[in-house]
Amino acid sequence: NSFSEEELYRPNFHFTPKNGWMNDPNGMFYYNGYYHLYFQHYPDGNTWGPMHWGHAISTDMITWKEMPIAIYPDEKGYIFSGSAIVDVNNSSGFSKDGIVPIIAMFTYHDMDGEKAGKTNYQSQAIAYSLDEGQTFTKYSGNPVIKNPGIKDFRDPKIVWDSIHEKWLMVLAAGQKIMFYSSSNLKDWKLESNFGDGIGAHSGVWECPDFFPMVVNGTDEVKWVLLVSINPGGPNGGSATQYFVGDFDGKQFKIDPSFENELNNTEHKSIWIDYGRDNYAGVTWANIPDTNGRKLFMGWMSNWDYANVVPTETWRSAMTVARTVELQKINASYRLLFQPAKELTKYKSTKYKREDIAIKGVTKIIDSDAIDLSSAEIQFKISDLKNNGFTFKLTNKQDETLAFGYNTSDKNFFVDRRKSGKTAFSEKFADRISFAKRTSTNVNISGTIILDKTSIELFFDNGETVMTEIFFPNSPFEKLSIEPKDQEFILDNIEIHKLNI
Ligand code: FRU
Repeated sequence: NSFSEEELYRPNFHFTPKNGWMNDPNGMFYYNGYYHLYFQHYPDGNTWGPMHWGHAISTDMITWKEMPIAIYPDEKGYIFSGSAIVDVNNSSGFSKDGIVPIIAMFTYHDMDGEKAGKTNYQSQAIAYSLDEGQTFTKYSGNPVIKNPGIKDFRDPKIVWDSIHEKWLMVLAAGQKIMFYSSSNLKDWKLESNFGDGIGAHSGVWECPDFFPMVVNGTDEVKWVLLVSINPGGPNGGSATQYFVGDFDGKQFKIDPSFENELNNTEHKSIWIDYGRDNYAGVTWANIPDTNGRKLFMGWMSNWDYANVVPTETWRSAMTVARTVELQKINASYRLLFQPAKELTKYKSTKYKREDIAIKGVTKIIDSDAIDLSSAEIQFKISDLKNNGFTFKLTNKQDETLAFGYNTSDKNFFVDRRKSGKTAFSEKFADRISFAKRTSTNVNISGTIILDKTSIELFFDNGETVMTEIFFPNSPFEKLSIEPKDQEFILDNIEIHKLNI
């Protein structure tokens, strides 16, 4: 066709590396006016390879500037996923001339050890930066945590525990999470383990995150544990589950109401995203307390096909930055995810319609009015009766990305079977992803973020999220909606071009 890969598939506003391969977001922190994002990166190839930490900075988490590579692999191994914190009080002792050190903690992956059939080839290491995260010096005493004989032992996430006033670190070990604490970020004490017999276990646990949250509208504090798992996601491949509970400074205990929810849920797990393309996401460190926000970003791909998606010069994008909130829902708790509000300042041309009777296929808008490769859509339907609805994005070739809701089985869905290029992987093609609706609200509302190759669906105020990528042979140009079988009223739909 006449479109270049760059025109067709490089997202308009989701972060992508200029060249080469990218997977997990790593070490996100805020400092001195900048949001920092590091990422698993192989700059010399377009598939997974020797891992570096790539680096990008932003003043608003929406537009990014790629910086020189921050951490390179060395004789001890590849630099796998991890985290970074701002060591404001110099607990590490790495400060010089009053400069606040940034401490990165990552997993060394010793390829030779793995090839030689050893089991102890992953260990934890630290590095410090005295130039606000641009360059890092690896600590001479690495590794700071040796491998205890566990094959998958990785992805340390450091968090300052302001309640018990110490540094905590969680890491994934096989199919459990290990909790450590430290006063100097070099000596780590194992406190406890979590995970036996709880949650999804059909894959390796990876990239945990752990943080306290105030429950919306209350003074109650609960701790949230995110655990990525691959494979075993709700719609196949990689996905991220979560747990809500309490933490006494040593041990995490799941809340009985949340455990009850899990036991009543299909697959005994609750997921931050039911789409196929939000993996290994974690939250930002050191966000100023004044706005009290938790901010999250994930890798917008899936190990089922990440290495073969149809781009050549770069591979993979990140999700948009999202806020995380904890809400009491029914008798238990749910995380709510929403696009970060910074996105709203890029809203330009607006299109709005109200009270449309949807009797059959109804065109909403096309790209002459608003470019659907860079748009935010908000909609509300107040009375769905016994049917459901399907939105369709289509292009000239009649390729279609469909998404919507079935009232009968209470499933949200994304159907990318006819969305363009799909044959590059059996696991990508022929795919509909489903998410069981949990909200009992009679209104169904949603926010939809559209880029050239991705859709991010935030239903019911972010209680159910679905993120999926796609590769049409020309851009989607038309949005329509149709009823499943019974007519309904689309109360309102508002579409904004995102000028990013
Ligand atoms: C998750 C992951 C991590 C690991 C990294 C390697 O996607 O497998 O567990 O540290 O990718 O690139």
